[in-house]
Amino acid sequence: MEKKNCAEYKGFTSKENKNTGYVRDISTPDYTSVKNRRRDFGAHMTSVDIFKNFIFPEIKDFLYDYAWIDLFAGEGNLILPILDAIQINKRIEFFKEHIFLFDVQKEMVDRSIQNAQRYGIPYEVARTNIQLRDTLQNYPDFKRLKYPCYHITNPPYLYLGYIVKKSERNLGYFSNQNEGYQDLYQVALMNDLRHNLQRLIYIIPTNFLFGFSVSNKIRRDFFSFYEITKAIIFERKIFEFTGTNVCICFFERKNHPSNQEINFYALKVNSKIIKKKYRLSVNDCYRAGGEFNEFISYFRPLEPLKIKFYLTIDEIQKNKGKIPVKLLDVNSFSNGYFRFDTYMVHKDFHDKLKSNPLFVRTLDTGKWEGRCGIYNVQEIFGVDGIVVKKKKYRTHPIQIFITPVLSECDLLLLKDYFNVMLEYFREITDSEFLTTFKYSSSDYIRKYLGLSQTRKLLETLPVHLISAEDKKRLRTFINQKDIEGIKDILSSQNRKTVSALLLKDFISEQLRNN
Ligand SMILES: C[S@@+](CC[C@H](N)C(=O)[O-])C[C@H]1O[C@@H](n2cnc3c(N)ncnc32)[C@H](O)[C@@H]1O
Repeated sequence: MEKKNCAEYKGFTSKENKNTGYVRDISTPDYTSVKNRRRDFGAHMTSVDIFKNFIFPEIKDFLYDYAWIDLFAGEGNLILPILDAIQINKRIEFFKEHIFLFDVQKEMVDRSIQNAQRYGIPYEVARTNIQLRDTLQNYPDFKRLKYPCYHITNPPYLYLGYIVKKSERNLGYFSNQNEGYQDLYQVALMNDLRHNLQRLIYIIPTNFLFGFSVSNKIRRDFFSFYEITKAIIFERKIFEFTGTNVCICFFERKNHPSNQEINFYALKVNSKIIKKKYRLSVNDCYRAGGEFNEFISYFRPLEPLKIKFYLTIDEIQKNKGKIPVKLLDVNSFSNGYFRFDTYMVHKDFHDKLKSNPLFVRTLDTGKWEGRCGIYNVQEIFGVDGIVVKKKKYRTHPIQIFITPVLSECDLLLLKDYFNVMLEYFREITDSEFLTTFKYSSSDYIRKYLGLSQTRKLLETLPVHLISAEDKKRLRTFINQKDIEGIKDILSSQNRKTVSALLLKDFISEQLRNN
């Protein structure tokens, strides 16, 4: 695409002032060096690396107290390296009483046996404790073991949606008592729960902690019985064989089932490692990163603004007239440029566009200035609106229409409020209420903000009801990023609305009685 007649909008170039042209949007950054950095950091770990770096240090002090089992053992890499810590002349005895491995694939069982032999375990002994078995279907009987079981595993992950379409063989696992679970790893967890296992270390997809409908049920059922004592969350691909982001979760069975809050620390591993405290509450289906949801449900006002997303080409065609408006065409995007065209609309529609200049970026562009948030179409793209001419996507810029009509000042207040609150929740939750953009290949993790999250956060500020004086205070709090101050205004506004509604009801009741 040629790049002439460019004008600047907030640092983004636009081919200017013609009826048709192109506007450049913030592009995603160039990540050429990232691959190398990842290599340095040890991307694509094997299960043995995971075991040595993250699991062994947690169990090394009580190796003789448990029977170490893996019901989905593959080549045995999460358990057999325990033998490194056992004196050679004691290994066979240790193995007999402390190690039990299973896999549904004969090839895996054979490899596990060979691996055990490499540690000095004779074939006959290895073969007794490493067995071919479909453990999802037939849970082994551990009653006669001398020691309590400690399950360390990386179970199969296969999402029910995929199974229904492509792997019917696995559908049977989701019948009867497993109905409602969404992935094979969830069936594995429930099997351990039903067999009363006390301690587990699972390598599972991070959607277990952060997912919504894919994992609400398993968290609700599982966390009634288990605590999570520690987790290591990988925000990047670690295994060669799966693109799924995974976490290592350390679970301990509770003394009694309860729905008390669960608190734990996790290490989040990305290009750097941070330690973070998590608080899981039954009210939010024990979902990690739930502070955002708590806020939007607590501060949902009785009379919120009405929000509509998207401007479609049909509306433009229905409102033809004599006033020109410049609209960005989100379906025409190439090499970082959006096309814009001029359309002739009638006055009411022109006024409607002018009074609704906000749009939402649902997806981080990868640059700070282009993070998810609410922006102004004029300021960013130099146009009057954003039109969808073909298919609506959730990830392109989306125009927002608000009822009732707001003044310019109120729109600005709403936009700034939204962005300050969004950044605040991103900071305190490390963006966990947002969805990680799947195709992100960078060490800057791009996040996706849902339209329903956008609507709900906008609705928490009933700017059309707030008094001039409170708006002034709110402006100060927003500028100072004083979140407690902002919450005070929201609370007092909600109280005022409730009183006003009660008064209204009371007066109509009186009028009816008279
Ligand atoms: C993700 S791999 C993990 C292997 C090993 N734990 C590791 O981390 O290296 C999952 C393993 O579970 C096995 N598996 C899948 N379904 C199974 C079932 N129903 N019963 C037993 N093993 C199963 C697969 O054969 C595979 O070896």
